[in-house]
Amino acid sequence: MSIRRVCIVLWVAFLGAPCLALERADIVIADFEGDDYGSWEASGEAFGRGPAHGALEGQMAVSGFLGRGLVNTFLHGDDSTGTLTSPEFRIERKRINFLVGGGRHAGEACIELLVDDVSDGGVSDGASVRSTTGADAEFLRWASWSVEDLAGRSARIRIVDRRKGGWGHINVDQIVQSDEAPRVNDDRDALLAQAEASDRAAAERVKDDPARPIYHVLPPANWINDPNAPVFFQGYYHLFYQHNPYGDGWGHMHWGHVRSKDLAHWERLPIALWPSKALGEDHVFSGSAAVTRKGQLLLIYTSIGARLPEQWAAMPEDDSLVRWKKHPANPLLSEAMHGSVKVHEWRDPYFFRAGNKDFLVCGGNLNKSAGGQAVVLGYEAGSEDLTDWKYRGVLFQHPDAKVKNIECPLLFQVGSAWVLIVSQGMPVEYFTGDLDVDALKFRPHRRGVVDFGHFYAPSCLQEPDGRRVLWGWVNGYEGGKGWRHCLTLPRVLQVGADGALLQSPAPELSALRGAEMRLEVDVASGATRRWDAARGRSLEISASIRAAKPGQSAGLRLFEASDGSRAIEVLHDGETLRVAGASAPLRLEGGQPLELKILADRSVVEVYAQRATCITRVVSPPAGDEGVSLRAGEGGAKFDLRAWTLGSAWR
Ligand code: FRU
Repeated sequence: MSIRRVCIVLWVAFLGAPCLALERADIVIADFEGDDYGSWEASGEAFGRGPAHGALEGQMAVSGFLGRGLVNTFLHGDDSTGTLTSPEFRIERKRINFLVGGGRHAGEACIELLVDDVSDGGVSDGASVRSTTGADAEFLRWASWSVEDLAGRSARIRIVDRRKGGWGHINVDQIVQSDEAPRVNDDRDALLAQAEASDRAAAERVKDDPARPIYHVLPPANWINDPNAPVFFQGYYHLFYQHNPYGDGWGHMHWGHVRSKDLAHWERLPIALWPSKALGEDHVFSGSAAVTRKGQLLLIYTSIGARLPEQWAAMPEDDSLVRWKKHPANPLLSEAMHGSVKVHEWRDPYFFRAGNKDFLVCGGNLNKSAGGQAVVLGYEAGSEDLTDWKYRGVLFQHPDAKVKNIECPLLFQVGSAWVLIVSQGMPVEYFTGDLDVDALKFRPHRRGVVDFGHFYAPSCLQEPDGRRVLWGWVNGYEGGKGWRHCLTLPRVLQVGADGALLQSPAPELSALRGAEMRLEVDVASGATRRWDAARGRSLEISASIRAAKPGQSAGLRLFEASDGSRAIEVLHDGETLRVAGASAPLRLEGGQPLELKILADRSVVEVYAQRATCITRVVSPPAGDEGVSLRAGEGGAKFDLRAWTLGSAWR
């Protein structure tokens, strides 16, 4: 035998054999491809006589299972119950992997591992040592139990459905003994297809609802909350938003996506981000956009799953930003980076650049939301690709002891002023001041309210020329209509010499205007005067109103009934601005006229007064109420008005 052959023989004998032993083949416990359950035992009526082949009658689309068959206990609806128990098997691998979907009801709709009781030496009924549920979604995601500690034990799998009512069922497929966790990187296409199909079906039902705004951004149907990651990229404004494609309540957080060339007309793009069930995500929470110095765009967001929150990134696969993938370096930031500091409700990363450094801020609190320790935390990038982050400490602590938590902090510069916006509950507040970039500490000089109405969790972008544009979430809608909530119009931000945050609707919105209507008129003391030309439910009105006696009320009535009996009022009484039940303090100095911009869009009204005071309100005027009137208090008032009907934003 040559030396080379001796070496090969020795290598096979000493290295090859152990290597082969490491690569033990998977053992399939069940793939549910047969016509019946084989030697599995079914009880109750939820399982039927054999595996299902996809969705059952009355069920939403079921996806993610392998082959044709799966266990699906939606048979006869959610109220049916039962169990399905495998024959006994020996635990011979490190893990048991399987696909699971359906309800999230621990102990009631679940898949369990039962092991023998050592004392009686057999698999009697066995004790349940592992248990997993679905995630209130029909999609089957991979799950895996580590069973190394149970090696050699006799076991059974039991699929349980004891739950009646909403999500009272479970879907299971492909149960396998393996030495590896399931090697699934992502489940994007199936999840996105399912989400889009759900939106499409709901959109058919809601598209003709006359209450749906026509020039405010909202999804085709279903739930929307925070605007996320607005960014101007390669000639388009991209705007994302928290979206539940499965209903008009909060849940299953995805990122919806729209884009615009002019901030006035919008185009819907497919849902951009989805919770990667195979990677343990249940929700893709709010976040922001970051462009690296080499031009790579990232969406950085809070990933929510069974674990603690983490900050993750997604990268586009194409320049039109339609297809996204999760960043291989995820998580970019995890809680352990805070060392001994425990951050509660840690989320909503917002990216900003200061000097030649890249930063993120996140919101949260340091005392389990007990009050008084609501904070904004700062992080500095340690690498140009924004995958390496260092914790830099608390950048800002809210001064009010009653404030429990901060969500969606935004920190950015307008001219030389720094602006910090925090969603600490409503109304959303801003602070203007200085940022010490070296110490990463924010020093507020002035405090104010961004919007006194239905407004929460805004986000903003910077354009190449430095202009800042902000969107908020209009959160005042009732549920039950198949769609719920919308975003505000884009607002251009400035900071006044006194540190006040000034906002005005983006001038580009004039692209939606029809013909201009004008009226200059004196309204007599205590009178109401109808402006017949300016009827409509999607209107822009610019008003300059001068009350003859300072402190006397004056204003407009929108959506007025033809007999004048009802209207949505925008009124100022010298001290306070009131819009449909919401109010904001507003004093006019030195005989200034009241300068109003009003944007009414079927069920939402945005009012901007003196650019510094905003009130957004959700309203529900009865069909046919479309009139506009002017109202003057004692002494009368002089009105100088312009109005336009606004058209749809959707291409
Ligand atoms: C604010 C918020 C964020 C979170 C998101 C979840 O409205 O609670 O803090 O990321 O919504 O949808």
